[in-house]
Amino acid sequence: MNILLLGRGKTGSLVAEIARSRGHRVEVAGAAENAACAALTAEKLREVDVVVDFTAPSCVVGHIEACVAAGKNMVVGTTGWHGEVDRIRQLVENRGTGFIYAANFSVGVNLFLDVARSAAAALRHDYSGQIFERHHAQKKDAPSGTAIAIQRVIGEASGEKKDHLEITSFREGDVVGMHEVLLESAADRIYLCHDAKSRQGFADGAVRAAEWLAGKKGFYDFKDVWREL
Ligand SMILES: NC(=O)c1ccc[n+]([C@@H]2O[C@H](COP(=O)([O-])OP(=O)(O)OC[C@H]3O[C@@H](n4cnc5c(N)ncnc54)[C@H](OP(=O)(O)O)[C@@H]3O)[C@@H](O)[C@H]2O)c1
Repeated sequence: MNILLLGRGKTGSLVAEIARSRGHRVEVAGAAENAACAALTAEKLREVDVVVDFTAPSCVVGHIEACVAAGKNMVVGTTGWHGEVDRIRQLVENRGTGFIYAANFSVGVNLFLDVARSAAAALRHDYSGQIFERHHAQKKDAPSGTAIAIQRVIGEASGEKKDHLEITSFREGDVVGMHEVLLESAADRIYLCHDAKSRQGFADGAVRAAEWLAGKKGFYDFKDVWREL
């Protein structure tokens, strides 16, 4: 495929490396080349099969709008825009493009979401719960998109009417991404933890998601798709 990758930061640069190693042609546009979505005109995107975004919460929605308007498929790894998800789904469906997103493209975290979904039954048995997330000091959004996804999954699975589990965020050093769920009753404590050792899992999942999306239309959440990869 011809991939246009937005963002040459910590994750984007690894996405480019993995995509090239899997035989794709990759062009990269960073902040300078893509000011005001300059790299995302229909003309510039003519030969591009899919746009992959690992940029920043402040610009990702503009990128999505430009790519959808140009009729291009998109893989979005950037977090911090979940409040707009319903509007974006509508845009994608109206335009008939293909779109897949995830707060976390690693298979391990998506397995972890399944574990958290099962453990949510505890909340119907006098357990209280908390979520903790730790990331490197440069991360722009808090709480992390992954922590919000864990919160949502547990909320849906527990059927709890009370507010979502509280999320506590820590920003320190160069932590790639650690997510913990603590479920506690008077009798015992259940502790679930996912600790990313590198960005490899995110980047690999995003490239495989782009391959999966080729030739498809529709709006997809990676958590519903990763088992097919
Ligand atoms: N879904 C997942 O699996 C996953 C995994 C890891 C991270 N993330 C998310 O992905 C995003 C990026 O994370 P990161 O750690 O790679 O961040 P990062 O190292 O700060 O990289 C962000 C990059 O985006 C570029 N950028 C900013 N505005 C841009 C624009 N308008 N057009 C093109 N490029 C632009 C920056 O370019 P300059 O250097 O030129 O300013 C920078 O290279 C964050 O939202 C993070 O939460 C998601």
